[in-house]
Amino acid sequence: MAFQALRGTTDLLPEEVARWSAVEHAARRLARVYGYREVRTPVIEEAGLFLRSVGETTDIVQKEMFRFKDRGEHDIVLRPEGTAAVVRAYLEHHLHKTEGFAKLFYLGPMFRAERPQAGRFRQFHQYGVEAIGSASPWVDVEAITLCVHILRECGVKEAVVWLSSMGCRNDQENTAADLRGRLTPHKSKLCQECQDRFEKNVFRVLDCKNPTCHELAWEKSYTQEERGNVSWPFLLCDECVRHDQEVQRALRQLDIPFERSKPFTRGLDYYTRTIFEVRAAGLGAQDAVAAGGRYDHLVEEFGGPSMGAFGFAAGIERVLMAVAHGKSGEAPAARRGLYLAAAQPTLVGETFRLIQRLRERGVMTLMDYDGKSLKAQLREADQAGCQAVAILGERELKDRTISVRELGPRSCSQTLGKSERTVPLDVFVEEIAQSSGIRHHCGEKSAQGGI
Ligand code: HAM
Repeated sequence: MAFQALRGTTDLLPEEVARWSAVEHAARRLARVYGYREVRTPVIEEAGLFLRSVGETTDIVQKEMFRFKDRGEHDIVLRPEGTAAVVRAYLEHHLHKTEGFAKLFYLGPMFRAERPQAGRFRQFHQYGVEAIGSASPWVDVEAITLCVHILRECGVKEAVVWLSSMGCRNDQENTAADLRGRLTPHKSKLCQECQDRFEKNVFRVLDCKNPTCHELAWEKSYTQEERGNVSWPFLLCDECVRHDQEVQRALRQLDIPFERSKPFTRGLDYYTRTIFEVRAAGLGAQDAVAAGGRYDHLVEEFGGPSMGAFGFAAGIERVLMAVAHGKSGEAPAARRGLYLAAAQPTLVGETFRLIQRLRERGVMTLMDYDGKSLKAQLREADQAGCQAVAILGERELKDRTISVRELGPRSCSQTLGKSERTVPLDVFVEEIAQSSGIRHHCGEKSAQGGI
C-alpha cells in the first residue's frame, strides 16, 4: 500500500522550500520595515469565530471549512483565513487597551475544503497583515503599498491592483435593498443557492460563479449609464466617497498604479469601504495573488470597542506561480558549503570531529557515513552542490595537513576546479570559516533580485 499526500495538499521538497523561504523572508522583512510585528495564532479555532466574521452565508463557511467536533464536543475548524483569528487574539490579550492601534502580521497554513485545481489548494499558505485601530485612509494606502512592495521584491512583474469600495454598513444595507429590488423580477432564474441566500445576503449573488446569476446581477439589473458610475453597484454615502477618493489620490501620488474599470466584491462578509485584489498574469481562473480591505466593524462585533481596521493576505503558492510565469529560465543555484571526504574509512571519527568544529562556526558541512570510495564521495559532493571538498587522508593527518579543492560550476557536473591547495590542519577550520564562498549560514539567502 503506497500512501500519498491528500488531494489539495502538497509536499515541499528542499529546492521548493528554498523558493518559499525567499518569499517568507521578503514578507517578514518588509512587514517589519512598515512597522508590523509578527503574531502566531493557533491553526485550530472555535467554528463560531468564522461564522460571526467571514459570514454564515459565505461559501467559505457553508462549504469549505474543515469542521469537526473534538472529544469534548467543541465545534472546531482548521482556520480558513487569518483575519478573524488575529482580531480575536488582539482582543483576548487586551491589545486594544495596552496598545490601541496595533499593526500585526502573520504567516502560516490556512485550510479550505475547496475543489482543488491549479492555484487552489485545501491547505495553502498566506502571509498577511492586519492594522487594527484606525479608520484613516492612510492605513489602507500603507497596507496596499506594502502588499505591492512585497510582490515586487519577490519578482512578481505582471500584476494589477484592482481597487473598489463597498461602502459603510449603511451603504451596504441600501445597496442590498436596491439590488434585491432589481433582481426580484429575475429571482426564479437565479440558481437555487442564490434564491436561498437572496433575503439573507443578496451580495452573494454578486460573487456567484453561475453564469446566469452573474449576468443577471451584474448586467441585466443595471443600465449602461448606471454601470458608468465609479462605485457601481455600491451606493456610497459622501463620507465613503471621500475616503475612497483619498485612497485613490494617495496611491497616485505614490505611483502605485491601480485599476477600477470593473467592479468586484469580496467573498467574505466583514468588509466595509476599501477593498482590493492583486491579480497576476498567467494564473488562469485563480489569478488573485493577494487581497484584502477595510473591516471597520469586526472588532466591535467580537465584543471590543468600535475601531476601524484594514488588512490583506497573499497566497504564497500563487505568488510563486506568478514569479515562475514571469521568468524565462532559472539560473543554476550557487554552490554552497563543504564536503569533508575521508580517504580511508578508518578516518570517520576524525572527520566527524572536524565537521563538528566547522558546524559550530556556521559552515554547512557534509560527509560520508558508509565507507564509500573517494571517487564516490567526490561525486556525492558534486551532486549535493557543495562549493569545495576537503580530503583528509592518513598521510595528511600525519603531516597535519588537509587538501582543499574548489568544485567547478554547477552545470559542469563532476568537474573539479583547478584550484587545489594544501592547508595546515591547525588553520583549516578558521580558514574555511572565514571563506565567504564556502561559509553559509542557514537561511542566509535573501529574496533580493527575484526568487
Ligand atoms: P482571501 O481573498 O480569501 O482573503 O484570500 C487571500 C489570498 O489567499 C488569495 O488572494 C489567494 O492568493 C490565497 N488563497 C485563498 N484561497 C486559496 C486556496 N484555496 N488555495 C490557494 N490560495 C488561496 C482572506 O483570506 C482575507 N483574510 C484577507 C484579508 C486580510 N482581509 C483583510 N485582512
